[in-house]
Amino acid sequence: MAGPFNEAQQARFDTDLQVVLARYPADQRPAAMLPTLRLVQEILGWIPPEAMVLVADRLGVPPARAEEVATFYVMFHTRPAGQHVIDVCTNVSCCLRGGEKVLAYLEKKLGIRSGQTTSDKRFTLREVECLASCGSAPVMQVDEVFVEELTPSKIDQKLAALE
Ligand code: FES
Repeated sequence: MAGPFNEAQQARFDTDLQVVLARYPADQRPAAMLPTLRLVQEILGWIPPEAMVLVADRLGVPPARAEEVATFYVMFHTRPAGQHVIDVCTNVSCCLRGGEKVLAYLEKKLGIRSGQTTSDKRFTLREVECLASCGSAPVMQVDEVFVEELTPSKIDQKLAALE
């Protein structure tokens, strides 16, 4: 399987991985799984299967372990994502305060369904479970930044402010 990176990306990965691994005892490399996957995502924007194999190799674990972690956490993208990722919570507290309406509003505004990316690759929209900000429901995360107590105008303002 070909590697996930071009030459410059590979150099960055190798350099930054050394910084990550320096924070862990030499015999605890598998503990660096989250920051290493995060590093891949910073470089590529997502974590393709060949990157999971590379990460597993560098951390000395089976590839399935990297895949388990990458697919468990919603913050990791295992498919190519748009320039901006919008996660909308529709769990109980958000649902009670209009989370599903927020999702429907964004689906209509962006012209895509949850799980899809706009054709210009600008936005990926995802319906997610509780984001742990229930007290300020309904909530979405845009590029991992919370936007709380959502209203249509607040959503419009947030999207308009994105580059
Ligand atoms: S239910 Fe939406 S943040 Fe918890």
